[in-house]
Amino acid sequence: MFKSPTTHSRIAVIGTNYVGLVTAACLARLGHTVIGVDVDALKVGRLQRGQLPIFEPDLEDIVREQLAAGRLRFTLDYAEALSGAEVAFVCVGTPAGVDGEPDMRQVQSATASLAKLTPAGAYLVVVNKSTMPVGTGQWMQMTLNAHARRTGARFSVVSNPEFLREGSAVSDFLHPDRIVVGGEDSAAVEQVATLYAGLQSTPIVRTDTRTAEMIKYASNAFLATKISFINEMATICERVGADVKDVAQGMGLDQRIGPRFLSAGVGYGGSCFPKDVMALERLATGAGVEPRVLRAVMDTNQYMRQAVVDNLRTEMQWFHGLRVGILGLAFKADTDDVRESPALDIARTLLDEGAHVRAYDPAAMGNAARLLPELELCADAYAAVEDADVVLVLTEWPEFKALDYARVHNSMRQAVLVDGRNLLDSGALQALGFRYRGIGRGRGPETQAETQLVPSRALIAA
Ligand code: UDX
Repeated sequence: MFKSPTTHSRIAVIGTNYVGLVTAACLARLGHTVIGVDVDALKVGRLQRGQLPIFEPDLEDIVREQLAAGRLRFTLDYAEALSGAEVAFVCVGTPAGVDGEPDMRQVQSATASLAKLTPAGAYLVVVNKSTMPVGTGQWMQMTLNAHARRTGARFSVVSNPEFLREGSAVSDFLHPDRIVVGGEDSAAVEQVATLYAGLQSTPIVRTDTRTAEMIKYASNAFLATKISFINEMATICERVGADVKDVAQGMGLDQRIGPRFLSAGVGYGGSCFPKDVMALERLATGAGVEPRVLRAVMDTNQYMRQAVVDNLRTEMQWFHGLRVGILGLAFKADTDDVRESPALDIARTLLDEGAHVRAYDPAAMGNAARLLPELELCADAYAAVEDADVVLVLTEWPEFKALDYARVHNSMRQAVLVDGRNLLDSGALQALGFRYRGIGRGRGPETQAETQLVPSRALIAA
């Protein structure tokens, strides 16, 4: 599948969380010799034995394969990882700080370690893989140069942002739509581009560090914009009786729009979109630009969570004593990650208002329990909906499509189902007797009469 690269490089990967682990494993898979370095001794020991702290499809196989091939190993020792390394990938986290600005402490610490521990006289290409605020690359270059004057080491910093999605990170790394490499040193840019020689025919965008850093933020912000856009269309569809799933299909067939990231629902979560859109909004504001679109994207995303609760309040009058079954806690399917998950916000609001909430998620219950210990967790979906007045489907797990909804209906006290990811067949559920509410799914015939649809002003004026 991969052409062996013309050069096998010796690479250090700083940080072995999600981005670092995928990067280290896949670079080894491309034929390079990789040493992953981390500060967590327990994690390094487990990784060295092929035990991973995260689940990503195919990742464990690749790590074990590359450990056995001797192209991949893990260490606590920066000096060991850097001795002989030609390239060092910085894969430490830049989580959102309290004021929405990215927290750069891990980047500062990694930079200081690189400066201090790169062998005297060595030349090291430093590659920023994690999402880094615009300008970070140049700050790192200046910082490394300052230290280098003492040690005689030389550094070239390059930005090579990751575009990895949780649940498909290995596939996204080995089959990228594009590779972005930004740097002020063109030789270093070429050296990093060559690392990916095994990925035939992938377009490579060569630019400067600031532009490469901006490409990452702009890409995530645009994907989040698509989601908030279709969610705003869904809100309008609710009022005018249109079906946003068909709207999305009709839009997406336009090659200029494309069908992906147009699934309306309770909105986006995760460790990237919320953090990156907020960081870009802060960057714009700090640069004296009014980020009107970005603010609308964030406001709409927050609104979608509140809208589910408000719609439920209309349907059920009050929450005190209401029995709610939640299906799905992860921020999306195929992950155990609950960071910024709409489901947790919604569950927390219902609990605060006195509802009795039970929940089930195929992978995320451990993480959810840490953030929301008062949430009653169930062994399976049927247990979570038993005797419930309302069922909320909040994560697009495929297994929730395959449930026996006749059994669900018979086990509930009342039969209200809110499909927060438009995952289910509204007609089939209504035929089973559910009061089905999707997001932007227009109006079923039984509610058309009850709801005074908003006529367009043109009709009134005519
Ligand atoms: C995202 C970007 O896709 C990836 O390129 C970047 O490197 C990291 O952030 P990720 O956060 O893992 O990846 O998940 P993604 O699949 O993009 O979904 C993000 C959120 O948007 C999820 O909560 C998902 O449920 C939601 N979503 C996605 C929608 O609500 N509608 C859609 O159509 C697509």
